[in-house]
Amino acid sequence: MIDLIEKARKTHSLEKDEITALLRDSGSTADLLAAADEVRSLFVGPAVHLRALIEFSNYCRNNCCYCGIRRDNRQAQRYRLSVKDIIAHVDAAARAGYKTIVLQSGEDVYFTVDRLTRIIRAIKERDMAVTLSIGEKTYEEYKAYKQAGADRYLLRIETTDKALYHRLDPGMSWDNRLRCLTDLKRLGYETGSGSMVGLPGQSIDSIADDILFFKQMDIDMAGIGPFIPHAQTPLADARGRELTLSLKTMALTRLLLPDINIPATTAMEALDPNGRIIALQSGANVVMPNITAEEYRKKYELYPGKAGEGRAFVSERGRIESKITAIGRTIGQEKGFRGEFLKGK
Ligand code: 5AD
Repeated sequence: MIDLIEKARKTHSLEKDEITALLRDSGSTADLLAAADEVRSLFVGPAVHLRALIEFSNYCRNNCCYCGIRRDNRQAQRYRLSVKDIIAHVDAAARAGYKTIVLQSGEDVYFTVDRLTRIIRAIKERDMAVTLSIGEKTYEEYKAYKQAGADRYLLRIETTDKALYHRLDPGMSWDNRLRCLTDLKRLGYETGSGSMVGLPGQSIDSIADDILFFKQMDIDMAGIGPFIPHAQTPLADARGRELTLSLKTMALTRLLLPDINIPATTAMEALDPNGRIIALQSGANVVMPNITAEEYRKKYELYPGKAGEGRAFVSERGRIESKITAIGRTIGQEKGFRGEFLKGK
């Protein structure tokens, strides 16, 4: 296993059977995570980039079996922020020193191209980077957001196992999701994808395929987190909660794509109070503090434990910063685009 980790560290390339061997082996976990930390340090440096996350609507037209805001969850209390309220959140984030706004929502048709482009332009006027995480759209819609100034887009593939995807995301099409990612890349977005780890019916083989998919697509960001069952979904009784396997998947992604942005995901923090710090020491270099006002935040429950307890308010940015500096890292002062660190060297 040590030889495989060495190979990944030096060549940033592994065969599928080598990836599955590392995912299966428990004796080499610490070495794998340490190698990812080293590669992170060499290719993206010590800075942790903070992105302010605004969850602006939990209305969703989709019905993903794992997700707490799926269409059929009648117990979810739906909300959407007004354009004015979203911009108030943006201003608070700017005052707190954030350089990127991440706009995330369910697939809510209320937010037309017109409304979204108004929000995007307002953020760009404040000289911040804009990341969108609002699901599957047409090429024309993606193009309109890009022209309005959007810089990045997050759209997880969730799983590259097509049969599993179609079981878990009824009514959706894996091929359309791939089409979206291809369109986003073509339009010049910094494109993020990612996956959940520990889904019911997901094999180690298919997790290896996910990692190779990120590599083959040359994605710019990868959000990887453990699947956590939500009581108000069809997967309430599934197991999930695979923190270590998620960390290993993330570490392997760092080894194979050394210069990309990798967030320490909230789902990791939901399983371990120190989850995001552990992730930052295992290949991650981004944190996305949730700055949504608390009354909404608790309703954006994709999985239990997600909202945290009063964690990561704009005013609590200092607390996150001190945790980051306590492990010898710095806070990113730039917008944190892919390749920024290597260019500056
Ligand atoms: N557990 C973990 N992650 C989840 N997501 C949705 N539901 C869950 C869950 N139950 C993730 C999906 C989605 C992202 C916004 O949240 O990967 O893309």
